Amino acid sequence: MRLVLLGLPGAGKGTQGDRIAVKYGIPHISSGSLIREVVASGSEVGREVDSYTRKGELIPDELAMQMVYERISKPDCAKGWILDGFPRTVLQARALDQRLAQIGLDVQMAFDIRITYQEAIERIAKRRMCSKCGAVYHLEHYRSRDMSVCDNCGGELYRRTDDTEETARTRLVVYMRQTHPVLHYYSMDGRLYSINGVRPIDEVFADLDHYLQRLAPAESVGDAL
Ligand code: AP5
Ligand code: MG
Repeated sequence: MRLVLLGLPGAGKGTQGDRIAVKYGIPHISSGSLIREVVASGSEVGREVDSYTRKGELIPDELAMQMVYERISKPDCAKGWILDGFPRTVLQARALDQRLAQIGLDVQMAFDIRITYQEAIERIAKRRMCSKCGAVYHLEHYRSRDMSVCDNCGGELYRRTDDTEETARTRLVVYMRQTHPVLHYYSMDGRLYSINGVRPIDEVFADLDHYLQRLAPAESVGDAL
């Protein structure tokens, strides 16, 4: 299964990516998380990419592609992957298709998880992330037992540096300008599936899963949620 999750910042790409990964046993790869790991490493590349993400701008295509390609070439990706936040420009989408075509593969489905601007701003303001395992919480909609500690691993919860209201607004503009055309790219050959993301997390997942079962019938998957 090779999937792409698209949608405004805060649409639920990370939240749904985690669920798909659990149900279908394939890795959920968030380009944003890969970038945050590089930033946390304190390397020179980390400092370079941090200067973009802090402002809510995209990092250069070449750097994003390099990080994602390296990740999807690891052995745990042999049965597929869920890409979240990549591709984010038409250039990245084309390059990914070309790269996969060289080894006889493709992106099978791209999902557009749709929410409103207002919902995006509200979700981003109230999101908290685990500093250890990357789990995503929300102060109201999806709480951990103690909102300073992760339920999964006990890691400390934090607010992303790009989750301020000002940066979130920039990210929305950047999405419409640079990522929205990617929807058209995948719709042209029938690979785009539109999902209403302004519903409870379980309902959004059920909709996604309805399509995913076309690729992997329920009886062939491992442990269900
Ligand atoms: P990235 O980390 O990908 O951020 P993003 O696209 O802005 O998306 P978010 O992670 O903010 O939202 P999400 O859709 O994952 O929502 P989530 O599940 O967390 O990228 C960060 C930065 O890295 C970019 O700005 C850019 O600089 C750079 N970058 C990344 N990829 C790049 C690329 N390919 N090229 C260039 N630059 C790149 O949910 C949000 C909140 O809502 C959570 O609190 C969650 O609990 C809650 N929630 C989720 N679903 C629901 C629901 N159904 N109902 C109620 N609440 C919900
Ligand atoms: Mg995310």
